[in-house]
Amino acid sequence: MSEPGLRAPAPRVVLGVAGGIAAYKGCELLRGLTESGHDVTVVPTASALEFVGAPTWAALSGKPVAADVWASVHEVPHVRIGREAGLLVVAPATADILAKAAHGLADDLLTNTLLTARCPVLMAPAMHTEMWEHPATRANVATLRERGVHVLDPDSGRLTGADTGRGRLPHPDAILEAARDLLLRGERGTDLAGRHVVVSAGGTREALDPVRFLGNRSSGRQGQALAVAALGRGARVTLVRAHVDLPTPAGVTVVEVDSTADLRDAVLAAASDADAVVMAAAPADFTPAARSETKIKKTGDGAPALELVQTPDVLRELSATRPGGPDQVVVGFAAETGDGDTDVLTLATDKLRRKGCDLLVLNDVGDGRVFGRPDTEAVVLDAEGSEPTPVPAGPKGVLAHAVWDAVTRRLAGS
Ligand code: CTP
Repeated sequence: MSEPGLRAPAPRVVLGVAGGIAAYKGCELLRGLTESGHDVTVVPTASALEFVGAPTWAALSGKPVAADVWASVHEVPHVRIGREAGLLVVAPATADILAKAAHGLADDLLTNTLLTARCPVLMAPAMHTEMWEHPATRANVATLRERGVHVLDPDSGRLTGADTGRGRLPHPDAILEAARDLLLRGERGTDLAGRHVVVSAGGTREALDPVRFLGNRSSGRQGQALAVAALGRGARVTLVRAHVDLPTPAGVTVVEVDSTADLRDAVLAAASDADAVVMAAAPADFTPAARSETKIKKTGDGAPALELVQTPDVLRELSATRPGGPDQVVVGFAAETGDGDTDVLTLATDKLRRKGCDLLVLNDVGDGRVFGRPDTEAVVLDAEGSEPTPVPAGPKGVLAHAVWDAVTRRLAGS
């Protein structure tokens, strides 16, 4: 596996902030972007500065805030900022900024920058439901999307006043995930367009009684990253998640499950018309032979014996039955530590054969690596026994794209 630390510098990001109450959530997004190593130039509109002042943006980005086309005119800031950016994110994107961007208006630094930027543009809308649903906004969003601008759908929930509905700014983590995905996707385009893919994520729980369960520490981050990456590459995505405490990715069909048996049913149902299924979840392997309907009580000394039975092996069943047809691609994950006698590659090769899947992603989790960490590194093995493909250390999105690269190659029959 590769040496950690050998990474290309993170691209420059422009964060445009339009004038809405959700501007304060842009601070959290900015922090996430800078913590990911990006050099971020914040370009607030004049009305955004009414909500959050320039000193806050300057402090969080570590550089002066650019808000005015008339400042530093000699260096033509809108052209310089637009050209240098690897990604332009607008959050919150108000109805006004969507309209201006759709019509090519340029009356301040942000709208000028939007016209000069040649990098991917991501817009995260926030406005009242009526404004989001207005035919003018719908048409503007459709125009922008047709031009390749990535406009996220706003979340539903509590709005500024007492009202609730669609129009909330997507969670900063979801915007960050979409931003990272756009940067990672690079030249891949929409090579999964017209495909349906199913991803499982998280850790299942097996109930002992109404209050206790057997579970595991899987965070579901890798599965989420896979879902977001596939969505960005044009796929229709079903994400079957078990106890994932992360915002639901916009545009993904999410099915929430509890136990391994639930996960099996949901994955098999979704897989019936899927081109590929990626089992990134950590299903519990054992479940109590009987679930107590009432809370198990202490009875004198000694602890009750737990009788466990095996849960269904979803990956093995999928591989054997291929519910989506014989060409369906099935991918498993394996987190291995090696055991002194046998190295991780041998264990993973055995697992791939045992499970019968087409591809197996091996995470070496010896010495505390990978689990619970935002970064990962892995190798991808295939059923033909080809030379394993190493995936260098990096965010889980890097591995997600490497998995979809391998899947698309199989789907294309190469
Ligand atoms: N998996 C599954 N159903 C299960 C257990 C695991 O589909 N009941 C899938 C996981 O989603 C993963 C792969 O199988 O893609 C490997 O998971 P792992 O826990 O390593 O496999 P086990 O079958 O538990 O293998 P072992 O106990 O031999 O390590």
